[in-house]
Amino acid sequence: MSRITELNIDEIKDSELLKGFDFDKYDDGDRERWKALLDGVLEAQEGISCDSYTRGMAALGENFAELPNLEELNYKLEQQTGWRVMAVNGLLPCEDFYKLLSKKIFPSATFVRDWHSTAFTGYPDIFHDVVGHLPLFFDKKFSDFVSKSSAIIYAVLRKTPDGAEKEKMIQNFSRYGWFTWEAGLILEQGTAKAYGGAILSSSGETQNLKERGYDKFDLLEVFNQEYTDKEFSCRYFMIDSYDDLFASLEQIKNQYGIEGIIN
Ligand SMILES: [Fe+2]
Repeated sequence: MSRITELNIDEIKDSELLKGFDFDKYDDGDRERWKALLDGVLEAQEGISCDSYTRGMAALGENFAELPNLEELNYKLEQQTGWRVMAVNGLLPCEDFYKLLSKKIFPSATFVRDWHSTAFTGYPDIFHDVVGHLPLFFDKKFSDFVSKSSAIIYAVLRKTPDGAEKEKMIQNFSRYGWFTWEAGLILEQGTAKAYGGAILSSSGETQNLKERGYDKFDLLEVFNQEYTDKEFSCRYFMIDSYDDLFASLEQIKNQYGIEGIIN
């Protein structure tokens, strides 16, 4: 049984969320790499980041200038967005991952990637999780999409017995997550802007996007599109607005027959 399954997520305390996290364990090297990553990404984001991300960054800005203390970050985040960060080590079992997100608890790594991985890391670190994802939670609509889609996906997975069919679902949902909140683009004033955390936390991914271009978001195409998190994204998909994401959720509910279980 995993740590998450053992916890009562509805009544989880801040001290449990950050169990094992010790801000004093970061050293000067961690702080230097954080600043170098931030400088590189802020430059790369010029003209790339979507409005909701820019607003979220402004709301959290001073918290990111230095390697943030998750305890302080959690206080501000919860006050303004209802989201909290949970410190995790390693990848979570996928049902736990979606269960946490459905409760507006964002699992974040705590280590800072090494110098060799500044442009790309296949293994999310605190910089990717915090700088790439948290600012978007200040957008109510996007925040609702993440928690609602996670609740739906969790419900689908819970009612499906283990086996080949479930494995295929997990693969589809993983591609859905990758091509939306990790590598997603949104149309703003006639231009494609990034809302995906993998782009917003990586100067290398931003460059890759500029070279590859993008396609219009289509759920079935996304479900059929292979990807690997070991290299930059092979494709990017653009939505016209966050309404497209909610429309895709209706498709998912219809496809997996959970209408009436969760709204
Ligand atoms: Fe991510």
